[in-house]
Amino acid sequence: MSDPIYYGKQQIDQDDVQAVVDALNSPFLTQGPQVAQFEQALANYVGSTHAIACSNGTAALHLACLSLGVISGDIVWTSAISFVASANCALYCGASISFIDIDANTGNISVAALTKKLQQAKQIGSLPKVIVVVHLAGNSCDMQEIFKLCHPLGINIIEDACHALGASYQGKKIGNCQYSDCCVFSFHPVKSITSAEGGMITTNDPNTAKRLKQLASHGITKEPSELQQAEQPSWYYEQQHLGYNYRLSDLHAALGLSQLAKIDFFIERRKQIFQNYQSALTVSNLTLLEQNIEGESAHHLVVVLIPNNKRDVVYQGLADKKIHCQLHYMPIYRQPYHRISDAAINTFSGAEQYFANALSLPVYPDLSDQQQQRVIRSLLEIMNE
Ligand SMILES: Cc1ncc(COP(=O)(O)O)c(C=O)c1O
Repeated sequence: MSDPIYYGKQQIDQDDVQAVVDALNSPFLTQGPQVAQFEQALANYVGSTHAIACSNGTAALHLACLSLGVISGDIVWTSAISFVASANCALYCGASISFIDIDANTGNISVAALTKKLQQAKQIGSLPKVIVVVHLAGNSCDMQEIFKLCHPLGINIIEDACHALGASYQGKKIGNCQYSDCCVFSFHPVKSITSAEGGMITTNDPNTAKRLKQLASHGITKEPSELQQAEQPSWYYEQQHLGYNYRLSDLHAALGLSQLAKIDFFIERRKQIFQNYQSALTVSNLTLLEQNIEGESAHHLVVVLIPNNKRDVVYQGLADKKIHCQLHYMPIYRQPYHRISDAAINTFSGAEQYFANALSLPVYPDLSDQQQQRVIRSLLEIMNE
């Protein structure tokens, strides 16, 4: 029987192993030079002024909300189709969350739905403080349009780019924050690069960067220029905010840094795999999610849209052949914790249509051509049964 194939997984080589071993043998296991080097390398790669490392993408989203001043009583909006962390970050701050419908062909926030929701919110005085936009599957949202709608209303934008390290929009890397206040990445093993667990926030605003850095480490600073009490001995530090221990360790940063050196190769291989699926599946009348014509996806996920209520049959048929696909995602508002009324669910036509049809196929740099052919053959066989 063939080996199992999963929808995503990391690719670790001997250089990665050596980088972690070197960090283990160094004087610092945490808060050493690897973290600062990883931050600088990532900022250089995406073209942002600042990058702040933290323990995972969820912590990064929480910190991003805190740094923009989200507090109890505020309203935050996010995409109906995302991982739950895109919504939970607002709740951690005591704010409430509300969902924006998506375009079922792209999986990303629908600009038309956002326009309508903003008009309604303006009328009743319930505009959000922050919008968390999600580049689903690594494919950019229409950032310029979203910015044009939100900026004049004073709404801050956080990009949840946990799927999108290596993607670009209008010829520039996602993470450069041209149309946002902060951009958040995750280095979970299935993502573009991994640090096992890990996250990063990019921003071009020095004050936001300073606040993020402090909040990720208990709200503490040791920076002489930031201290409230001047002329202190060098052991002195101050806690100026209620922060968290959301720091990344040097071990994780060493792995992340080593992986970042290979990102172009990883994204190129993902693109080849995407293109193979595209040519094999579109001739069989199966559609993949539409790509933003102003962008280049990171191809974190390859989502095929399976018509005629056959998605779960296909999922199970593939699982029986040891091909383990996944649904990214059930709408967040259908999770028991976030559940909204059936009447409210009916207003999310895009998210509901996507939810009925979407299935993420295996894509990761290590997926061999033979394995991909096995996935395609199996999928088409099940579709024709
Ligand atoms: C869209 C999105 N946002 C946030 C997260 C949270 O990232 P992490 O797992 O690093 O906390 C994920 C991770 O799966 C994600 O896919």
